[in-house]
Amino acid sequence: MNLIILGPPGAGKGTQSKRLEDKFSMIQLSTGDMLRAEVASGSELGKQAKVIMDAGDFISDEIIINMISSRVDHDDCKDGFILDGFPRTVPQAEALNKMLAEKSLKLNHVIELTVDDEAMVERICGRFTCSNCGSGYHDSFQKPATDGVCDSCGSTDFTRRADDNAETVRNRLTTYHEQTAPIATFYGDQGILKQVDGMAAIDDVTQKLENILG
Ligand code: AP5
Repeated sequence: MNLIILGPPGAGKGTQSKRLEDKFSMIQLSTGDMLRAEVASGSELGKQAKVIMDAGDFISDEIIINMISSRVDHDDCKDGFILDGFPRTVPQAEALNKMLAEKSLKLNHVIELTVDDEAMVERICGRFTCSNCGSGYHDSFQKPATDGVCDSCGSTDFTRRADDNAETVRNRLTTYHEQTAPIATFYGDQGILKQVDGMAAIDDVTQKLENILG
């Protein structure tokens, strides 16, 4: 099964994708994570991407489409994938349709997490991640069971994203509404779009997604 989780920054795309991975034998493909890996590696692409990401703008469609196209060919995608953060523009959505047809793959669901923008600033500015295993947390909404210790791996080392500050988040939200929101109409017209209330509690959102995916 292959699906897209759509939604603005902070909607819970990453949080929910990680929860669905194991249950439905799919792999999360986050273009944001792929780009952050490029930044961490110090590659030429990473250096260019860092400036754009820190401002809350988008990387070029061509780079992103090539990145996803080669990633989907990996063995770990054969049972299915969850696209998190891609597509993000209508040209990316059109390129995805073409790419899937060429690879004889099908998109089973497109699910949009609907949320209020103002709440997203608080969600994102309170977010932090385990540096060792990547588990995600929040200062108020998703604290580790023991303060300062990762529930999953016991590490005490955490990081916060460079683009997770109020100013950049507001720019990311504006960019989302201008360039990404039209994708919902694109998939709505194809009859495969479903919406889930992303303002509900994390477990309730997971339950609704699981109900849709069966
Ligand atoms: P990316 O990494 O994709 O960031 P984003 O879309 O801004 O999404 P986030 O990761 O911020 O939000 P999320 O929905 O995953 O929220 P999360 O689950 O963590 O992209 C970063 C940048 O890379 C872009 O700005 C762009 O520059 C570039 N880029 C990436 N893809 C691109 C593309 N295709 N084309 C061009 N450029 C691209 O949740 C947030 C917090 O809220 C967490 O702490 C969580 O615990 C909490 N939370 C989640 N759900 C709930 C809930 N229901 N209730 C309470 N708290 C919740």
